[in-house]
Amino acid sequence: MPPADPSPDLDESINVTQAHDRVVREAAAAAREKRIADNGREPTALWLIVVCGIVAMIAGAVLGDAGRFFAYATTFRPDYVRAVPEGADATGPEPRAALAAFAARGSRIYSAQCQGCHGSDGRGGSGYPTLSGSEWVIGDTQTLAMIIINGMEGPISTGETYGVMPGQATSMSPQDLAGVMTYVRNSFGNETGDVTTIEMAANAFEISDNRDSPGAPVNAEEIRAAHAAMLPGDPLDPEILVDPISLEPVEDHESAGAGS
Ligand code: HEC
Repeated sequence: MPPADPSPDLDESINVTQAHDRVVREAAAAAREKRIADNGREPTALWLIVVCGIVAMIAGAVLGDAGRFFAYATTFRPDYVRAVPEGADATGPEPRAALAAFAARGSRIYSAQCQGCHGSDGRGGSGYPTLSGSEWVIGDTQTLAMIIINGMEGPISTGETYGVMPGQATSMSPQDLAGVMTYVRNSFGNETGDVTTIEMAANAFEISDNRDSPGAPVNAEEIRAAHAAMLPGDPLDPEILVDPISLEPVEDHESAGAGS
């Protein structure tokens, strides 16, 4: 082979426009060849995609019964009933027997407001009388209520004098008072077995407001003369189920359930 002539053949006329077109065409072809080489396939033609889409829609209409496929009535059977999970009707914590629920409320009040003086075991200590077996705890509820609401001074139920107990009910609701009374009457060895109700506690606040000197500590003399009685109000079955938060009796749980 003779060596290529390095000098340009000036006689040969070159159409630059044609040459440019050819270069562009070949570059595009080369780019396409490259794609084919990468995945072995030609790019899918747009018309083919459109045709496939139409075919799929027609097939779906025929085979899938499309007219009704999205219809609620056929998707969900007429007798379909959403399953209600167990306990879904419950709106709060499990109901508890009244005595237990009132005492649980009272236990928290006792820890916060009485324990510091009368002790966690209710047996008092130096300077504070025991609540275990105290006649004014397990006896007349009006006596106990007046002591808690107003505090007391002078001789206690046993005749001994310890000092002055400040009133404890300034921030108590009737539920709180009912709870703490139920608790102390059924703790520390005390076992009256009864519930001081919210109604009774509300009456206690009213009786206290009507004292000659509301808010002043009560003493043995006043207790014996005016408060030696049970608080007025209907008794509550200690076993009846109550809401542990509101302490109100609840409907029979079984009958309220989603018929199983
Ligand atoms: C700051 C201390 C203190 C707190 C708090 C306190 N007490 Fe007292 N309590 C006393 C003292 C002191 C006496 C005796 C008063 C006296 O000698 O007259 C007493 C007496 C009593 C008595 C009379 C006991 C008897 O046998 O005569 C009862 C009942 C009682 N408290 C219940 C309670 C309850 C329930 C609470 C909480 C709600 C409470 N106390 C909170 C100090 C306290």
